[in-house]
Amino acid sequence: MITKRRLRLGSGLILFVFVLTHLTNHALGLISLEAMEAGQHYFLLAWRNPVGTTLFLGALLVHMMFALHSVYTRRRLKMSIGEALQLILGFAAPVLLVSHILGTRAAMQSFGTTDTYTYVLMAIWVDNPMSGIRQTAATLVVWVHACIGIYYWLRLKPWFARSLPWLYGLALLVPVLGLLGFAAAGRTVGRILADDPGIRLDIQIDTNAPTAEQIEFLHLLEAQILLGLAALLLLTLFARGIRLHLERRRGIVRIRYPEGRNISVPPGTTILEASQLNDIPHASVCGGRGRCSTCRVRVNGPLDNLPPPDESELKVLHRVGAAPDVRLACQTRPTEDISVTPLLPPNAGPRDGFAKSAAMQGQEQEIAILFADIRGFTSFSEQKLPYDVVFVLNRYFRSMGEAIEQAGGRVDKFIGDGIMALFGVDANAADGATSALLAAQGMSAQLDELNRLLEADLPSPLRIGIGIHVGPAIVGEMGYGPAISVTAIGDTVNTAARLEAKTKDFGAQLIVSEQLAALGQLETAGLRSEEIEVRGRREPMSIYVFDDAKELDGRFGDSRKKRETQPASA
Ligand code: FES
Repeated sequence: MITKRRLRLGSGLILFVFVLTHLTNHALGLISLEAMEAGQHYFLLAWRNPVGTTLFLGALLVHMMFALHSVYTRRRLKMSIGEALQLILGFAAPVLLVSHILGTRAAMQSFGTTDTYTYVLMAIWVDNPMSGIRQTAATLVVWVHACIGIYYWLRLKPWFARSLPWLYGLALLVPVLGLLGFAAAGRTVGRILADDPGIRLDIQIDTNAPTAEQIEFLHLLEAQILLGLAALLLLTLFARGIRLHLERRRGIVRIRYPEGRNISVPPGTTILEASQLNDIPHASVCGGRGRCSTCRVRVNGPLDNLPPPDESELKVLHRVGAAPDVRLACQTRPTEDISVTPLLPPNAGPRDGFAKSAAMQGQEQEIAILFADIRGFTSFSEQKLPYDVVFVLNRYFRSMGEAIEQAGGRVDKFIGDGIMALFGVDANAADGATSALLAAQGMSAQLDELNRLLEADLPSPLRIGIGIHVGPAIVGEMGYGPAISVTAIGDTVNTAARLEAKTKDFGAQLIVSEQLAALGQLETAGLRSEEIEVRGRREPMSIYVFDDAKELDGRFGDSRKKRETQPASA
């Protein structure tokens, strides 16, 4: 199936080949005017036949439509210099080219003019140098526009960096030789006319040059086409304004970023546009064209709040071996509130896009792991209808999941009524330890709120046990098919699970290992400390026991203070 991306690229490539062959034909002027005319024979053979004409005009139309469409769909007109240059040159090209197309192709088809190089050079190099300058500018504009497009396309290829000197050389050489050839042939025609002014009439008769009235008609047509193009652009901008206005009226979507940043945007905005509109640094090597994958984000929360990825997005995600909860920020338009974590640093380069992250490939890494479990949930589920059990569990998972994500962690899995969460996978163990402690504190607060809300539905308030430990674990994408996700295995994971189980023995809500408390810079003076035997470990383990995880409040060191000074946007 031809995707929009392929259609845009294909139309651009057809136009590029057209300009390349045109400039190459110009370059033959460096040999002689005759060589140029002979080259034109083959150029016209390729492009002035039903197939060539359809390809050229079709590509021109499609490319222009895409340009207008990109103006229509843009949320903001602020863009990188390269993107702005490409867009401006793209709109300037037809404006500058209209008179050339009318003077050659349209004149040929309407009045039977044979637009040989000699005729064209006499008209624009000798008789109307201003028109010659305009058409030279048009050639350069089209060429630079095409080169920028090709650069955005090729720079993601692994061989691009190696080939850069050659490509730059070619990008420079082709227009320089083309323009030099054009100038050389122009001078030749000028000389011929100066030596024998009578030859002008011969050229006009031989080429069936348009009469003064016909030229007048072409000028009129040019003015009308330019007016039409301007109207089309204004109409697009007007439609864009209406669309943005309607979207704003339809409400807003909230997107939550790590470190607690929350932003609001109209539905229909891509996640990348949302980041850019709110000055959140976000990698986007291909400028949002859905090719580089550097903008990809992990969606922390219900994926149902997102339209499913289309074929091209799936292809890119597949190439990077992305987990099911990963999406391209530039292609994803949330329709409801979501929470996301950009996976690549804002300064990611083209090579980073298709390199799988270390976490995806699997590596040993020091992270913090949290286990939580509801106390006595089995007897609760035996007394209640399945519907009530599912309802309460989902409310519980949502509250706990939010507390974990707000603290910067990621829910690894829900196991029965238990939760496993990872902290520090995209950062470091110290940050992970602090995040895990903050998550435990948040979970405790969320549980109080949940118990208050569900008071009428619960025979007794829900109670939980939380265990947190930090240490080396094997982290990587594991699973099969849609059940693939980043998870962790190893002794640290088992220990965290056992600390959670120990909360029952101590009648406590939270147990954290001594290592975690130290790494998370927890102020431990006055805390209940114990030594326990943990199955699978030879040495006894020192732990801190909290009846209530909210007791953590006020016990965080510098790392928490640093977080609290992070800027947040509304
Ligand atoms: S910005 Fe390149 S894929 Fe999204």
